[in-house]
Amino acid sequence: MRQQWFDDARFGMFVHFGAYSVAARHEWVQNYERLTDDEYRPYIDHFDPDRFDALAIARRAKATGMGYVVLTAKHHDGFCLFDSALTDFTSQMVCGRDLVREHVEAARAEGLRVGIYYSVIDWHHPDFTVDWNHPRRDDENASDLNRGRDMARYRDYLHGQVRELLTRYGRIDYLFFDWTYPEARDGWQGKGPQDWDAEALLALCRELQPEMLVNDRLGIPADFVTPEQYQPTSPLVDETGERQIWEACQTLNGSWGYHRDNTDQKSATLLVQMLADSVSMDGNMLLNIGPDGRGAIAPRDGRTLDEIGDWMLLHRDAIIGAGHADLRPPREGVYTRRGDRLYLHLFSWPLGFVHLPDLAGRVSFARLLNDGSWLKTSTSDPDQRAENITPAGEAEGTLTVHLPVRRPDVLVPVIELTLRE
Ligand code: GLC
Repeated sequence: MRQQWFDDARFGMFVHFGAYSVAARHEWVQNYERLTDDEYRPYIDHFDPDRFDALAIARRAKATGMGYVVLTAKHHDGFCLFDSALTDFTSQMVCGRDLVREHVEAARAEGLRVGIYYSVIDWHHPDFTVDWNHPRRDDENASDLNRGRDMARYRDYLHGQVRELLTRYGRIDYLFFDWTYPEARDGWQGKGPQDWDAEALLALCRELQPEMLVNDRLGIPADFVTPEQYQPTSPLVDETGERQIWEACQTLNGSWGYHRDNTDQKSATLLVQMLADSVSMDGNMLLNIGPDGRGAIAPRDGRTLDEIGDWMLLHRDAIIGAGHADLRPPREGVYTRRGDRLYLHLFSWPLGFVHLPDLAGRVSFARLLNDGSWLKTSTSDPDQRAENITPAGEAEGTLTVHLPVRRPDVLVPVIELTLRE
């Protein structure tokens, strides 16, 4: 199956880097502040990624337990991090570097799968029409701005750049297109699949990189869907009732691009819970970092990744290659499952015992995953009830796992249960 590696990996790194990282106030700064090309230009001219080290990023991803890395080749501002024959608006022209090539080579060298993000939106391209989502929409002469703009020419550019990305760097495993907004708003058009000629673009992807996974943001179904900054609460199915592959993409602080003054950093504990939660619902999590204006991983992001990496080192078996378990978890957490191993991720630590519905007689061994220490179990069956345990109202068939009073000192404790099949 084409998506086997993706299902197994479960955890990937998103990297949003571009001229907006220099502005350091959200990757949508040009749009939010309605900046003209001239006003945005200083961030391009001063784009100097002397600390962008693709190998260090790939190594960091690997140390965090991630299986793939996805870099923004072009974001909505249109600035390309690769050498394109179709435009001068590239990192190659500004600083002589093809950062996409560096990324692809580094990820591959570290044994990681290679992903590219590419924005079909382009606020710089002279043929990309002004719409409700465009930084120029509030200009006094905004409606005149579309005179002479020709989306057919933009489409050629778009398809041409995707061809470049998919033919110049060897195998690409994953492509994240971004994004489609077909509805009209405020008297302006949106843009839908026909604006990208999505069918032809997807066909081009299939032709050039048949194994590559493609997301759903051309506005037509492809290989996986992309819940953004929220967590699905059940495994997803498509219209035909088949399992829908999904990947939640998540930020560290609400912004994808480096946002210096944003201190909304999620805790590493919350992020690990989100990861476990994704896997428990048969999904992946793509966690974003926004390298700073010089391309370095921001220290606060590095610390968060380190903490997650420490957890993954001990708990990777509960994530990598794991998925949904068709069992009712106790109220304290979620289950993931890998073959005959069931993993209970405890989001809160109960007093003394955790009661697992329907598992009596089905578990041959229970241990804490962080240190491999055995955990005593008992059942609610009066004959087998452990001594000194007062029934707490558990239903028949419940398996009770006995816990130490002190919670293990890890972000999220995990109990591994070996199932008897
Ligand atoms: C959104 C945003 C964008 C970000 C992306 C990541 O669609 O427009 O800035 O890159 O989501 O999923």
